[in-house]
Amino acid sequence: MAMTQAIPIARHPFANGSYKQMLIDGQWVDAASGKRFETRNPATGELLATVAEGDKADIDRAVAAARRAFEGPWSKVKPFERQNLLLKLADLIEKNFDELSQLDTLDMGAPISRTRAYRLRVLGMLRYYAGQATAIHGETIENSLPGEIFSYTLKEPVGVVGAIIPWNGPFTATIWKIGPAIATGCTVVLKPAEEAPLTSLRIAELAMEAGVPAGVINVVPGYGETAGAALASHHDVDKVAFTGSHVTGQSIIRASAGNLKRVSLELGGKSPDIVFADADLDAAVPGAAMAVFANSGQICSAGTRLFVEQAIYDEFVGRVAEFGRKLQVGNGLDPNTQIGPLVSEQQLERVTGYLDVGQKEGARALAGGARITEGPLAKGYFVSPTVFAGVQDNMRIAQEEIFGPVISAIAFKDMDELVKRANATMFGLGSGLWTRDVSKAHHVAKSLRAGSVWVNCYQAMDPAVPFGGYKMSGYGRESGKQHVEEYLNVKAVWIKTG
Ligand code: NAI
Ligand code: MG
Repeated sequence: MAMTQAIPIARHPFANGSYKQMLIDGQWVDAASGKRFETRNPATGELLATVAEGDKADIDRAVAAARRAFEGPWSKVKPFERQNLLLKLADLIEKNFDELSQLDTLDMGAPISRTRAYRLRVLGMLRYYAGQATAIHGETIENSLPGEIFSYTLKEPVGVVGAIIPWNGPFTATIWKIGPAIATGCTVVLKPAEEAPLTSLRIAELAMEAGVPAGVINVVPGYGETAGAALASHHDVDKVAFTGSHVTGQSIIRASAGNLKRVSLELGGKSPDIVFADADLDAAVPGAAMAVFANSGQICSAGTRLFVEQAIYDEFVGRVAEFGRKLQVGNGLDPNTQIGPLVSEQQLERVTGYLDVGQKEGARALAGGARITEGPLAKGYFVSPTVFAGVQDNMRIAQEEIFGPVISAIAFKDMDELVKRANATMFGLGSGLWTRDVSKAHHVAKSLRAGSVWVNCYQAMDPAVPFGGYKMSGYGRESGKQHVEEYLNVKAVWIKTG
């Protein structure tokens, strides 16, 4: 495996070891408790910042500010003005893009080539939501009541939104939560992940600079069990938009019961990626490999169950393993790095734990299979891209979300049996298939129970195209018109005119 040296970092203007406060009601403030926590670079262990550690008291303050803003001047701000705010924020993010992508790389480890490639996505999202801000409308609906009575609907912002995001893509996740909120006239209390809170804080600074009014966006960093739980159970929060594990998703639903707040959940997956013998294998090898290895496997829709048609199984899986061995693993700041570290020690333990499970279950590691313990990368949380061959459907490595650079390659023969096996998971987020046969592509795309199906590609995303889960991958959609609807209530108005 090729390795890059960790390159020295010029001090980043935001992640420079200093202390970061939280944003409540347009003010940068300390936690009520005075507590702070550290955030470190997972490639090197270097301290990036200490951060105000919010808990219930801070969530209470932030929700109160969000409520005041929602009921106050923000409710009078016209769609056109909200559109302008989103466009201004997009411009500021574009202007500061290099700094923001570096910050994401420093805080959670992803290669700079990846965080730079977020440009199209985050700017596209903000400008898409800007367009949506002036496209919100109710309908006039004919009714059949006797006499003259007129009926129409209004679309109204749902209110105060609690946004809880994970660490695997803080830049995109932050925009994905605040974009539709600003577009619809909601207000937000955002709780970033404790592992990587910095990009959300920097984006909040830029939102203030763009002129987003005080209280509309509040950011309270802190731990899930304290700040996150307080937000999910808060009686004055109207909706929780959550991205993360299905286990935490379940606790969010339980916490929401107190005031029956709306919940949208974008959870994990164990997505099937299916390679037929008639596929363009030169495209499918890198496609199937990067469907898992991208972001070191820390992507909810990663295609981790690689189903390969028996006739080409050995050849194909061998080629994927070879591709994995050649990937450049290293510090995300190095432009040549293709695979960065895992985000945290906890994540490292989880992933290496599954590497042991795979070996014990009788799978063969054709590539990788261990943490990198030699050279400069030993200081970070690096795991080599791993390909397990000989995986059976019922193995834990074929059923549980690992969230690391680990492919579980499974052989199949018969098409009907394949569809059943591909769907035999509690999850239903992504799925992929590789074939040159159009009929087969349509048939399998229709048969898979997942929110996205990628044919001869993987992970394609666009602000206008809805993304979300079936089954235990959650409910609600992000991106597209459906996403905006998640932040709106429908009111029916009846006017007797006769
Ligand atoms: P997590 O789901 O526990 O954390 C995600 C967010 O939820 C963080 O902001 C966290 O602080 C918050 N949170 C945690 N417990 C909470 C609670 N009781 N109430 C409210 N908020 C809470 O995920 P974690 O612990 O970071 O990772 C564990 C596993 O979850 C990963 O190995 C992976 O399998 C999965 N995961 C999936 C993600 C996805 O995008 N589908 C993202 C992150 C993790
Ligand atoms: Mg957790």
